[in-house]
Amino acid sequence: MRASQFFISTLKEAPSDAEIVSHTLMLRAGFIRKVAAGIYSYLPMGLRVIRKVEQIVREEMDRAGALELSMPLVQPAELWQETERWETMGPEMLRFKDRHERDFALQPTSEEVVTDIARQELRSYRQLPKNFYQIQTKFRDERRPRFGIMRGREFTMKDAYSFDRDVAAAGRSYEAMYAAYGRIFDRLGLTYRAVAADTGAIGGDRSHEFQVIADTGEDALVYCPDSDYAANIELAEALPLLASRAAPARALQKTPTPGKATCPDVAELLGVPLATTVKSLVLATDDVDAAGKPAGVTIWLLLVRGDHGLNEVKAGKVAGLKGGFRFATEGEILAHFGCKPGYLGPIGLKQPVRIVADRTVANMADFVCGANEADFHYTGANWGRDLPEPELVADLRNVVEGDPSPDGRGVLAIQRGIEVGHVFYLGTKYSKAMNATFLDEDGKPKHFEMGCYGIGVTRIVGAAIEQNHDARGIIWPDALAPFRVVVCPVGWGKSEAVRGEALKLHERLLAAGVEAILDDRDERPGVMFADWELIGVPHRVVLGERGLKEGVAEYQGRRDEAATKVPLGELAAFVTARVQLQ
Ligand SMILES: Nc1ncnc2c1ncn2[C@@H]1O[C@H](COP(=O)(O)OP(=O)(O)O)[C@@H](O)[C@H]1O
Ligand SMILES: [Mg+2]
Repeated sequence: MRASQFFISTLKEAPSDAEIVSHTLMLRAGFIRKVAAGIYSYLPMGLRVIRKVEQIVREEMDRAGALELSMPLVQPAELWQETERWETMGPEMLRFKDRHERDFALQPTSEEVVTDIARQELRSYRQLPKNFYQIQTKFRDERRPRFGIMRGREFTMKDAYSFDRDVAAAGRSYEAMYAAYGRIFDRLGLTYRAVAADTGAIGGDRSHEFQVIADTGEDALVYCPDSDYAANIELAEALPLLASRAAPARALQKTPTPGKATCPDVAELLGVPLATTVKSLVLATDDVDAAGKPAGVTIWLLLVRGDHGLNEVKAGKVAGLKGGFRFATEGEILAHFGCKPGYLGPIGLKQPVRIVADRTVANMADFVCGANEADFHYTGANWGRDLPEPELVADLRNVVEGDPSPDGRGVLAIQRGIEVGHVFYLGTKYSKAMNATFLDEDGKPKHFEMGCYGIGVTRIVGAAIEQNHDARGIIWPDALAPFRVVVCPVGWGKSEAVRGEALKLHERLLAAGVEAILDDRDERPGVMFADWELIGVPHRVVLGERGLKEGVAEYQGRRDEAATKVPLGELAAFVTARVQLQ
């Protein structure tokens, strides 16, 4: 490829709405252009990278025995109504009507369509297992599209769906995908971690996210450096930090804490450790009667230690909160606690409130909590003496660094990650809802055991940049680079010798199967180098008249401190050896 015939459109500055480095660099390097919020065009340079990701994903899915197909972007409401997801999906699913007033949606995912294919096409156990996948456009009307194509509304996903005879076979399909994902992210050259993830209503322990490690990631990953424990913080179990409850040593005392409405402020004022304070969070559930009619509101008080944070996913697993909860309104709080937020606590409640204590809080003695009176807290509070034992005790909090690992083999550490892939055992949720069955060996119809497996193809491009860049631009892992080598002639327009050597090297690299681009734009060296460093091509060769007189060219890897002089006769072989071909 010649640069003059390609499309290079670099920018000195990125538009101001770019929040993170990958977004900025993709805009500046001319990879993407915004069309609307969360909706982008992929320019030729960016599309080359996306195609690299797709190709690796495709090769490894094929190697794992999955079969590529393509399902429609526009999907009829009827299929989504069968699983009730037409109602439950919410505004993320973009819906519209065709000219006949029929309802359709843009696919945010494709369980319904693929299950429909399975129930029509897979009739016998002899056809199983099957794993169908597509690499396709998805649309999710995200509340907050951001970070460029990292959290877009329109994006490319590889989504795969497995169909099996029974739970054991579904487990094997899951393991095969888990292994394929490992190969994919290894080949992409990314630093990643597979973490256990929440399974929501499906339950079980077969859900893992593949997370690219990056400080800007939206997810917190919990892992144990001394064992193989790794989980998303949403799921990571927090063990009680106190093995048992000490006997009360202090009297309950109402203490003035004027204007101190947070645990850290109260602890500071009282001169006590933050870990002796208890934080009150008030939730509400909107109850319904047997006929589904509204039947009042239940108020919940969740208690976590002052230095801990509430984990809403865990709260959603508490009996009574499973059906969904919300934070209580200020009016509801006043009505039940007789006090505004900031001074709330579990002692002396006049109205019924259901109290759930975190495991650690349940073992605390002589703690500090709000007194349900503005500008006052209790000190020396004790369960059983000053207030009833907690009605419920549950794991409610996020783990923090240094917590004991749930596997008992060390302490936990936390790092941030970008979710680039997800493997999920679905069981018979969709096959039952859509009555998708096959005839088993005993001649009886059975529901398919299913799994689904996503990879965010376009998100990977952003995640790779978050992990691989410097002040000058992107540094592509070889496998993702739009071009692996750039040949930069200095004085293209002036020097026939330079032109001749550059053309020769370009030809030789292409003949060796190395994707090389020849910069024949006749730009000044500074402009030329800045462009390629921004674009992130991992290998560069500079040819100039002075070097040619010495019989050498200069090779520099994108991460190298300095250039290496290479004799012209060895140049093509030297560069080819530097490039990781795969
Ligand atoms: N808005 C988005 N923009 C880009 N990629 C996305 C987006 N939402 C999801 N993905 C990618 O698709 C993969 C599979 O999606 P899924 O697990 O269904 O998404 P989520 O975890 O957001 O529910 C995710 O691991 C992620 O890499
Ligand atoms: Mg996910």
